[in-house]
Amino acid sequence: MNIRIPSEAALLALAEEAEREGVSFDPSHKPPPPRSGKGGPSLDDEGWQPPLTPTGEELYYCNVPYMLAHGERGGGKTIACGHRLFKHAYEYAGAAICVTTLTRSSATLGGAWTKLQTIVLPVWQDGIGMEGEGKGGQVIFKMDDSRNRYFWLRTEDGGWSMFFLRSMMHGEHIQSRLKGMEFTGFFFDELTEADDDGYFSHPIQQLGRIPGIPNQFYLGACNPSEDGEDHWVYQRFMTGFDNPAEKRPKRRADYRTFHFPMTENDFMTPAEKEAYLDKVYEACRTDPTAEDRLLKGIWRKKAADKGIFREYFKRELHLRGNVEKNTVIIPQGRVIDVGYDIGTANSSITFLQRYRTQSGWGWAVLDEIVLTGKYVPIDQIAPKLLGLMNYWCERTGTQFRFNHISDAAAFDQMRPDGSYDARALEKAVWRELETHAAKYPALRHLVRRERDAEGKEKPDGKVVAVEFELIPCPKPNGSVPARVKMCITLLQGNDLVVSAKAMRHVEMLETLEPDGAKGIFHPKKTDAGHIHVFDSMSYPIYHYEMGGTAGGVMTGPAANWVDLKV
Ligand SMILES: Nc1ncnc2c1ncn2[C@@H]1O[C@H](COP(=O)(O)OP(=O)(O)OP(=O)(O)O)[C@@H](O)[C@H]1O
Ligand SMILES: [Mg+2]
Repeated sequence: MNIRIPSEAALLALAEEAEREGVSFDPSHKPPPPRSGKGGPSLDDEGWQPPLTPTGEELYYCNVPYMLAHGERGGGKTIACGHRLFKHAYEYAGAAICVTTLTRSSATLGGAWTKLQTIVLPVWQDGIGMEGEGKGGQVIFKMDDSRNRYFWLRTEDGGWSMFFLRSMMHGEHIQSRLKGMEFTGFFFDELTEADDDGYFSHPIQQLGRIPGIPNQFYLGACNPSEDGEDHWVYQRFMTGFDNPAEKRPKRRADYRTFHFPMTENDFMTPAEKEAYLDKVYEACRTDPTAEDRLLKGIWRKKAADKGIFREYFKRELHLRGNVEKNTVIIPQGRVIDVGYDIGTANSSITFLQRYRTQSGWGWAVLDEIVLTGKYVPIDQIAPKLLGLMNYWCERTGTQFRFNHISDAAAFDQMRPDGSYDARALEKAVWRELETHAAKYPALRHLVRRERDAEGKEKPDGKVVAVEFELIPCPKPNGSVPARVKMCITLLQGNDLVVSAKAMRHVEMLETLEPDGAKGIFHPKKTDAGHIHVFDSMSYPIYHYEMGGTAGGVMTGPAANWVDLKV
């Protein structure tokens, strides 16, 4: 191995660099001399702990060897991990904590290392009187001749422990950079940025080599990866435990994961939260799946770049309103079209309106009922549907007429119980309106009741007619790719807009995949059920395209349709 001894000049340059950066240059790594007197107060005796979110507190007291803090942005992961590290450093003389990031700058410029120094350390100084090696117990931040940062802390029992920072840009660095290093605690912030399991398997080799220090640990923090559950961090921390087929099974008991919900973080002011969220929304703008990862902490994979409508659908152009800001498209005129794809395992219903454009028609998707991946009996769909119809009538004070347009298959395919989907839904709607009329006060105009002797409708008379009939959408040969192409044309002309109230439609337009075997204009059936959303949205549009006549037309560009939700 080459050992490079820096020249006097090089050392001088480093010392100057350290000074510029406000740290003290010390290549020695020597612990400060022992001090007389005892250390700080004991954590147990004082009953002191740093302020933490509930999940942060669980992590703080956790003693398993492998821990992961994960979740959406701003849940308090990095800070909680920081406190966990300081607890270890305070409790055990001789503790050495390695803090790792991929790049030095991500650690020093506002990253984990900065947060440790500026947010976490002061809490320990104020709360339990934590001291460093400097005069009056000041903590001295140091830099060595490889530009690595470190500092010493006085422990509960009067000894010294240290924190040091290592950046490891490339996977192949890990092994060589860790060689010969020993530590008792290891922390990697933004762990999903590290691209292989080596960032786990190598560091843990270096743990446990310093004797006499209990509860040594590897700790990672991250947002869910764009690779979702395929990412090594997920694989490492969440799956594959106690497999008896393996010689040395990964023991469940050695691992713990902590999901930090953003809602628990009360440490940020509303203004700080907003600023934080603005950045997150910016990321979601160009990547729809980011919302699940960065706002909900779900390990959702970023959609492949091959969606059928991916090139054509753009949130900036086609999405109207914003759920967070409570703006959605408010229907106009007197008619709403409703598209249906009702099935045994997946059902989707689309509320949409047709409007006039300079060159023809445009469509606005207003609302949706999407029930995918589970069997929902038609009797349960009817109240949801009527509830939504009632909502829009009530909210706008309009007696809307509804055109219900469904897959023709609903009319000619028998259900297992012998009924047809279309008939079954009509019946369920009728029954619901008859028995729970009070739930739908804004839908009275759709129900006819028995009349009295003078010909006036009796308010609680028997229902004699309900204005609810499903119209079959034609399904000639080649109608599937025809519907796909039709939607592409509409998107290209900006003649299809989707309200923020119909986010499953947005998701569908962003991620619906083509079925490789059938060609680029054939949507693929996937577990996500996007094809059903596509169907329920495109049946009504196709119905009119093929010359269907029911339904009224609005005027005015849909861009003006965004109203404030109250
Ligand atoms: N225990 C705490 N004490 C004081 N402030 C906290 C605490 N937890 C969180 N905060 C505040 O909330 C902010 C976000 O916390 P933190 O950086 O730990 O979140 P995170 O989950 O790591 O977020 P990201 O996903 O963006 O990395 C911090 O900058 C800090 O201002
Ligand atoms: Mg963080």
